[in-house]
Amino acid sequence: TARSKLKQALSEGKPGSECLVKGWVRSVRTGKGVCFIQLNDGSSLAGLQVVAEPDLVNFAEVCGLGTGAAIAVTGLLQESPAAGQALELRAAQVEVVGGADESYPMQKKRHSFEFLRTIAHLRLRSNTFGAVFRVRSSLAQEVHRFFAERGFLYVHTPIITANDCEGAGELFRVTTLDLAKPPLLNGAVDFSQDFFSRATGLTVSGQLEGELFAQAFSDIYTFGPTFRAENSNTARHAAEFWMIEPEMAFADLNDDADLAESFFKRLCSHALNNCAEDIQFFNTQIDKGLIERIEAVASASFARMEYGEAIERLKKAPVSFQFPVEWGLDLQSEHERYLTEQVVGGPVFILNYPKEIKAFYMRQNDDGKTVAAMDLLVPKVGEIIGGSQREERLDRLTARMQETGVDPESLSWYLDSRRWGTTPHAGFGLGFERLIMYLTGMENIRDVIPFPRTPRHAEF
Ligand code: 4AD
Ligand code: MG
Repeated sequence: TARSKLKQALSEGKPGSECLVKGWVRSVRTGKGVCFIQLNDGSSLAGLQVVAEPDLVNFAEVCGLGTGAAIAVTGLLQESPAAGQALELRAAQVEVVGGADESYPMQKKRHSFEFLRTIAHLRLRSNTFGAVFRVRSSLAQEVHRFFAERGFLYVHTPIITANDCEGAGELFRVTTLDLAKPPLLNGAVDFSQDFFSRATGLTVSGQLEGELFAQAFSDIYTFGPTFRAENSNTARHAAEFWMIEPEMAFADLNDDADLAESFFKRLCSHALNNCAEDIQFFNTQIDKGLIERIEAVASASFARMEYGEAIERLKKAPVSFQFPVEWGLDLQSEHERYLTEQVVGGPVFILNYPKEIKAFYMRQNDDGKTVAAMDLLVPKVGEIIGGSQREERLDRLTARMQETGVDPESLSWYLDSRRWGTTPHAGFGLGFERLIMYLTGMENIRDVIPFPRTPRHAEF
């Protein structure tokens, strides 16, 4: 008897073949002299129907199984008369590995996503979250394949850092903490317990270290967790999120946009081709236009628009926005969505933003007003990628740091890369959760990350 994942049992098994499967009970339905168990082990959306009949020694126990129980079933696969499944498993033996009583909070009915967030440790066993996390896993693996094929070096940049890459003052401070003795209960917080008495925080981006690696390995990428202490309660911001950040030496903004476009399209086709069952589920249950939209993007040529033109288009828009539109102001989510959904009707790169609204490291353009920045906007999500060509000229970079209040002394190691063997270089960051939102149609970032960290969610 081979032990197999349900997915494998279903795709490789034939009527009459014996198999052993283990998983969690999704539902139990009893008929006259028969009991049907919907079993799932997370390997596929479909799961497997187990048919139990009174010849089982523990038939009564099996009929009384609760949703959420863990069982191991041995039996013979047989053709299923039920619609929507080719095979079912006729149980010869059912072992109850771990029971579950009626207090199991996820009974077989539709629960709201809000409710499921309060049981993030159990929602994993639902259809929707099963599909979300299978898609997430598959896409993460594809990210590595994409870059490996192109010879990009994968680098692990530090999580604890003393630099604030985006210069937005949004680092979480790192300090030692004994959870058994919470400082609030224990009197005053002891700040001498900061990272060996040094001011450090959790990284907001691996870019600066990534740039150093690009200046040695040419093409590199990071894929890791990043943290932002922005107190924004929106559906697309999390305090902890994962970012993919490639960086290329000897590259300009155009090369950067080209890479971002092939990368994004590749991830779209991967989802369609390799996560078909789950994407179909999202298309039916969550977002009716999903597949059509991803298919269109996978084969589209992405529009590229100057920031200045974007502002003009927004000013002419026949809708009124909540936030003002003016050359020099940052684009808000409503503006981004208008541009990608109404003006372009697909993904669009916005290029060359005013320097005042972008980070110190972006390359200054000859007009003296803009920097070589690019954001990729997509329908439903808005900004999904942010990137730029970097300022490689030592004097210009130092001057820009001083203007924006970044101490050049504190980043002397970064400036060294401009002192010796500097090159034009460029890169971007793709927010992994926003990608998963885009590919699943899930509308809240809290529902595409296993255990969301937002101002109101950190209990797990
Ligand atoms: O535009 P951002 O801030 O750019 C950077 O961090 C650059 N250092 C990247 C680079 O050039 N290497 O962030 C990049 C992307 C955004 O486009 C968005 O998709 C995602 O990261 N992102 C967030 N995702 C979830 N929650 C948040 N709070 C996010 N902030 C940014
Ligand atoms: Mg950005």
